[in-house]
Amino acid sequence: MSQDSNLYQQEGQSSPDVLPEDPSRRFWLGTACAVSGVAGVAAAVPFVASMNPSDRAKAAGAPVSVNLSAIPAGTMVTAEWQGKPVWILHRTPEMIAGLSKIDQFLADPNSDRPGYTPEYAKNTHRSRKEQWFVCVGICTHLGCSPSPRFAMGGAEGMPANWEGGFLCPCHGSQFDLAGRVFKNQPAPDNLLVPPYYFVDDNTIMVGLEQAAG
Ligand code: FES
Repeated sequence: MSQDSNLYQQEGQSSPDVLPEDPSRRFWLGTACAVSGVAGVAAAVPFVASMNPSDRAKAAGAPVSVNLSAIPAGTMVTAEWQGKPVWILHRTPEMIAGLSKIDQFLADPNSDRPGYTPEYAKNTHRSRKEQWFVCVGICTHLGCSPSPRFAMGGAEGMPANWEGGFLCPCHGSQFDLAGRVFKNQPAPDNLLVPPYYFVDDNTIMVGLEQAAG
């Protein structure tokens, strides 16, 4: 399957596979895919480690604080929460505008399917604030880690009408800049939006929907 051929396919051309039931298996599948398929991307998308809890606390699922002030518009960083990569993307006005142009091509444009989108992210930008997108960077097909394809148009090998998004290197699933999967892709669902809240204008806490207590 070529990458380009996936975008904007007609309905009924693919049959989504079933996710492994064991989440840890999905994670390690993702790790294997990431190592073999997108090693270069790991260097391009910085991991943030400051203000994070100890390794033991992280493994137990402790919330992770992320400083937003160091993320320029048009870029993203990856934090780690519960052993999973969590993307924090700072969307530009052009990126935000592109989200409203492609609903007809998306499998679940309004995030109606249960389990992937908290109530506070059930909006056109799938986030608490339109310029900040937060999601778990694990493909909902078999757990690989998609790669950024932020350039609009065909500059990064994507179709001419591409509005920016993510491409999974394993089987070619495509997601927009709100993590919404396109129709007729191997991935059956949108990328997962984790619990998070804004501590202040420049800080989010991943792992909780609101401050404890
Ligand atoms: S793991 Fe198959 S398309 Fe992402």
